[in-house]
Amino acid sequence: MRATISALAHYVPEDVYDNHWFAERIDTTDEWIRTRTGIKERHFLKEGGVSEILTKAAIKCLERRGIGPEEVDCIIVASVTPDRIFPATAAIVQRKIGAVNAWGFDLAAACSGFLNALVTAAKLVESGAVRNVLLCSGDKMSAILDFTDRATSVLFGDGGGAVFVEPSADESLGIVDFILRMDGNGEPHLHQKAGGSMRPPTAETVANREHFVYQEGQTVFKSAVIGMADVSYEIMERNKLTSDDVAWLVPHQANLRIIDATANRMGLSADKVMVNIDRYGNTTAGTIPICLSELYEGGKVHKGDYLVLSSFGAGYTWGAILLRWSIPDIS
Ligand code: ACO
Repeated sequence: MRATISALAHYVPEDVYDNHWFAERIDTTDEWIRTRTGIKERHFLKEGGVSEILTKAAIKCLERRGIGPEEVDCIIVASVTPDRIFPATAAIVQRKIGAVNAWGFDLAAACSGFLNALVTAAKLVESGAVRNVLLCSGDKMSAILDFTDRATSVLFGDGGGAVFVEPSADESLGIVDFILRMDGNGEPHLHQKAGGSMRPPTAETVANREHFVYQEGQTVFKSAVIGMADVSYEIMERNKLTSDDVAWLVPHQANLRIIDATANRMGLSADKVMVNIDRYGNTTAGTIPICLSELYEGGKVHKGDYLVLSSFGAGYTWGAILLRWSIPDIS
């Protein structure tokens, strides 16, 4: 049995913050942000936690699949900005959508959260342990951004998506292959200093601004360029596909220069690369499901198409999934 994505949807908060909004507050320019990252604007959620985003995406996803919440077997939430450290945001989403028969859990793999969760969901389905998984993946990055730090605050946005994972009716379609990697030596270069059990919150950690994203941008950039390109190329090669066979590269949206380097390595032209970083910035676990959902809604992905999904993020964690699209065109 092979698992597939049978329905999907996304949600991005309404409020838009363009680069000029930052330029009016910190020492940066629209030009610097655009040329170094490809970002023009991002969306921030004003009220509530990430479950607000994920619940909206989940409800729409189930509507598109045409089933009720009580038919969901398992909910996985991928996020590094859960509503609370506990209970799991999966439980919060379960209550909000009324998925009374579902069990579930949260998974934290930062920007690779969606890929790790999709592989986990697929394996749960393929083993027969569950009939289906509602995978909700996204972040409210604005909750952990230091808006006085020009190097990181301009990079991120809020948003997420939901995908329904179940057995594929056609064995040739669905999640074909995956590569997932991790290197814990990345921790010093990208982390949140305080708030966990190693450094619990105190007045001092708050005063020192230790609850925000800490990133050494250039160090992470160097590893990301190599890591994301390597796995994207490797998954294509080991499945004996050429750039002509791949309909879409759906990359994590952290920096347009990292995306371009990955596409170059795969020999893909720009018209086969999904990019929306200009509108949303880096929504961490949200980027890939939002990209997939926009491709679907735009009628740009068709049954039988080969897609390479790839990511790089905190940990470090990185990976690629080869997906053969199984959903008929949106009507
Ligand atoms: N506006 C103006 N100048 C800035 C800004 C800004 N917003 N931010 C930094 N600068 C300055 C720096 O101070 C530096 O100035 P200096 O040369 O006088 O010291 C200069 O611009 C260059 O800074 P760099 O950090 O070297 O810039 P770089 O070209 O590397 O771009 C960036 C920075 C965009 C962060 C890039 O390094 C990057 O994309 N890194 C990878 C991000 C990533 O993939 N993260 C993983 C996923 S995130 C996750 O998992 C949560």
